This record gives sequence, C-alpha cells and structure tokens, in this order.
Amino acid sequence: MTSDHLAVNAITRRVREFAERVRRVQDRDLYLYLQPVEAIGGPRVTIGGRSVLLGSSYSYLGLLGHPEIEAAARAAMQQYGTGTHGVRLLAGNTDLHDRLEARIASFVGAEAAVAYSSGYVANVAVISTIVGRGDVVVCDKLNHASIVDGCLLSGAKLVRVMHNNTAAVDRALAEVPDGAGTLVVADAVFSMDGDVVDLPALVDICRRRGAWLMIDESHSLGVLGDDGRGIESHFGLRGAVDIKMSSLSKSIPSVGGFIAGIPELAALLKHVSRAFVFSAALPPASAAASMAAIDLMEREPQRVARLRRNYRALRAGLQAGGLQVRDDPTPIVPVITGADDAALRMARRLFDRGVFVPPIVSPAVPPNTSRLRVTVTAAHSDADVKEIAEAVAATWHEVTPTPAPTRS
Ligand SMILES: Cc1ncc(COP(=O)(O)O)c(C=O)c1O
Repeated sequence: MTSDHLAVNAITRRVREFAERVRRVQDRDLYLYLQPVEAIGGPRVTIGGRSVLLGSSYSYLGLLGHPEIEAAARAAMQQYGTGTHGVRLLAGNTDLHDRLEARIASFVGAEAAVAYSSGYVANVAVISTIVGRGDVVVCDKLNHASIVDGCLLSGAKLVRVMHNNTAAVDRALAEVPDGAGTLVVADAVFSMDGDVVDLPALVDICRRRGAWLMIDESHSLGVLGDDGRGIESHFGLRGAVDIKMSSLSKSIPSVGGFIAGIPELAALLKHVSRAFVFSAALPPASAAASMAAIDLMEREPQRVARLRRNYRALRAGLQAGGLQVRDDPTPIVPVITGADDAALRMARRLFDRGVFVPPIVSPAVPPNTSRLRVTVTAAHSDADVKEIAEAVAATWHEVTPTPAPTRS
C-alpha cells in the first residue's frame, strides 16, 4: 500500500513491478530464495522441519559448526562482549583484531592484512581508496559484484574485459596515459562459473606494464594450492599478487573480509578507506572464529584433499549422468539451464527430492545463462555426493530435454 502522492513516482512503479515478478514465481510455487534454515548439521540443513542435503554450501572445508571454532567465538564474546566501542581507528580496536590480521597475513604469505566487516566491504573499500579519477582499473567481466561496485565508486576509468581474456587486459593497459594509476583485478575462482583465473598471464602483463594486480580469493582460499593457501600456491607463483582479498564467510566459516599486501597499503587502508574509518569493527566473536578456522586449516590439510576428492566425484557423477560440465579444480559446478524458468523448475524438483540448490538467475548472472550452481564440501560423504549428482542429473533431464549449452 503506497500513499496517493507517490502513485506517479517512478520508484513506486519499480518496486511494484519487482514485487509482481516475485509474486508470479511464488504463485507457481517456484520461489526458493530466503528459505528460513532452522538448523545446520554438517552438509544438511533443516527447512520447514525437513532435513535436506545442501548442494550449495560455501563452507568448502566443512568447518561450519566445528566445536573449536564455536568455543573460540564464545570465549571472545565472554572476554570482549558482542561488539566493540565503534570504529577501530578510534576506540573500537582490540588486540584480537590485530592478532587476526597478523594471522591472516602469515597464512596467505603477505606482510600485512586489514580486516573488514565483510568481503563485499573489503572489495569496495580497497578499490575505491587506491584508484580514483584519472586512473584505470581493468576488470574481468565475470568479477564479483563487490569488485565492480568498488570500481564504480572509485571514479577511475573502468575497463571491463571479456572473461579471462588476458590479451584484452594487455591492450587496455597499453592505452593508459602516462602517470595514471593502473590496477588489474580478478577473482581467483569465478564465483558463478567455478573456473580459475589465468594468473601466470596476468602476472606477466602486470609486471611488463607496471600495474598493480589484485585477486579476490574468496573461493580459492581453502580450495586451491598447498593446504588450501590459494591462487599463488596453486600456480607456484608465491609473492606474485600485490593485493589478496578474501571473504571470511566461505572456507573460513565466519563473517568478515580482508585485504592482504604490503604494510604501506595496510596503513593507507586503516587511515583512509571509508569503510574502515566510518564503519564499526568486526565483532570479536567473528574475529576469533576466523583465527580458529585458520588454525584448523593449517592443522588439518586432509580437509583440502577430501574436498578435492568430493568435487572430482561430483563432476564425474554429473558427466556420467549426461551433463556437460568442465573439469575445473574447484567445488563450484555450474549447471547452466539458459532460461530462468528451467532453473527455477529444476531447483524446485531437486528440493522436493531432498536436495537444496537455489537457482541463480539474471541479474546475478548474464541473461539466458541462468543456472544451478552446485557445490560440495569436505563435509559431504561419498553417498551425499552421489545423491547430489544423481538428483541434479535426473532433474536436468526432466526439465531441459535438450543438451546443456556450454560456455567456453
Ligand atoms: C568472489 C566474492 N567476492 C566477495 C564476496 C563478498 O563476500 P562477503 O559475503 O563476505 O561480503 C563474495 C560473496 O559471495 C564472493 O563470492
């Protein structure tokens, strides 16, 4: 219900049109977003009193719910409370925040790190601080939305290049006027597609052209490289990335985000980046949970091996079921339906079978590339992975009788 004086306002039309779009999906019983999860237990969640197998978790190493992590969070809350005295630059900093940053830096092989209250915030904060008007930022078309938002907010010239097209990155940098700041930014593992950035080519280009290289490791930390240390380790290119960023809500089952790099960058971000200066500190419990998770990642490298075994089995199972999926070394497996409707129907049928994989439609992905993004974790058993692969393949054949389109 809107007041009469707003009836002709374009905002009113916009919100009503969107509400109508949602209602049409709900009326067909195809709306699977915002499902209220009542309990979490390993790779299963309870929704509406029913336990379903999750085929879309980000807790890649199966650490969500780990007793050591929960104990660390509880202890931090007891010692420091539920929040801090505001922003860190003033009275909101704790020794826990400082220790978390040192721990992150040592884990990812950087000299310094800065923690933010989310990965989204970290991306927006760093990019909008280090580049501005007159600078150039080169961004892969499939980079995460928070990277794009950081670029837009910065005021720098944004050059969006076709996905993993490193020749286009090189061309864009060749045209930059002298004196401009230049930044190349990409995801390590692309969040909607599960493929890996061509890091060696980007490193070579950035070194030749004198550009800073920033990589978002949200889906590669805990996944790629020795003991899950990430993209540099995966390619044997230690020290090649100037700025490493990651969310703390994926393999590390907490909330927050970080930027890792040289100490001068960390100092700049802590004094100038608006999300650090004008927004409250990460809750102590989240900081402690992240540190406990990093300890576990170091102590239990077998989780990374288990994850690898599971995503290979998932891909093999889907291929055996007649789906065309690529053999990327990651737990994110897109099953592209093309049309929104097919993705919505497939997700509903899967849910009815007891497997929860929410559909992904535009604008989260480009139009006509709607998909189910299937993921498995180290917490899934062999039987769980088999069940997910078989259920996805069966619903795929029910919903889309033609072969799956593939993206090169
Ligand atoms: C690649 C990537 N970067 C950044 C983020 C944002 O992280 P957060 O959820 O911690 O804000 C995400 C989250 O989905 C992501 O997938």
